[in-house]
Amino acid sequence: MKTLVILTGAGMSAESGISTFRDSGGLWEKFRIEDVATPEAWARNPALVQEFYNVRRRQLVHAKPNNGHVSLVELEKNFDVQIITQNVDNLHERAGSTNVLHLHGELMKMRSAGPGQEVFDVQPEKIEYTIHDKCPKGYPLRPHIVWFGEEVPEISNASKLVEKADILVIIGTSMQVYPAAGLLHYARPGIPLYLIDPNEVEISPGRAIMIRKGASEGVEILKKELLKKI
Ligand code: OAD
Repeated sequence: MKTLVILTGAGMSAESGISTFRDSGGLWEKFRIEDVATPEAWARNPALVQEFYNVRRRQLVHAKPNNGHVSLVELEKNFDVQIITQNVDNLHERAGSTNVLHLHGELMKMRSAGPGQEVFDVQPEKIEYTIHDKCPKGYPLRPHIVWFGEEVPEISNASKLVEKADILVIIGTSMQVYPAAGLLHYARPGIPLYLIDPNEVEISPGRAIMIRKGASEGVEILKKELLKKI
């Protein structure tokens, strides 16, 4: 089976009603990154940071995987599908995808801010956190999110997956955030590279087959294309 590596971003979940970041009306038009998504923001105003992610979690529990997520699961019949997502939602998993690597963390996990950095699952009955929530060792619990200015612990695993790819697909990401955007450089020269996005996206190296559609329609077109070539 060929290895199909899929790099997804916020556009993958847009049709599930989850806001993207940099489109017009996106999250970074409403909030300043420096106020809610950096270690400095957490040090300065942890209550605001907790509330920002509480709102994201409340949206997520009401959202459902869209047809794009579902079509990616169907590709597992014919390919070894490896998803690398920048998304912190769990919609790939809820659709049924088997291999999902989260580059930027996960909304439905919290992490101890203490030295052990233990990670805890968020339980459905408690999706909201305040500055008073602590881990069993007494340290504050912070969102399990990779903030701007922090290391991306999964980047090395992600680059190894991209090196193994026989086919690479990019869906719904503006490719503006590093190191995720640099993953393309690990792809073997000459492998097919598809890009699904309703808007123009600049990539480097720039040699993608563009499918200029939203995720649901785009993945359906991709699926037909890939199955023709098996
Ligand atoms: P962006 O908001 O930067 O880009 C979203 C992309 O999705 C754009 O290229 C849109 O054109 C595209 N898009 C919009 N609607 C779509 C649809 N229905 N189907 C497919 N694509 C669609 O989001 P990301 O590139 O994911 O990190 O952002 C990367 C990182 O920046 C995020 O993981 C987040 C953010 O700050 C952290 O918060 C750590």
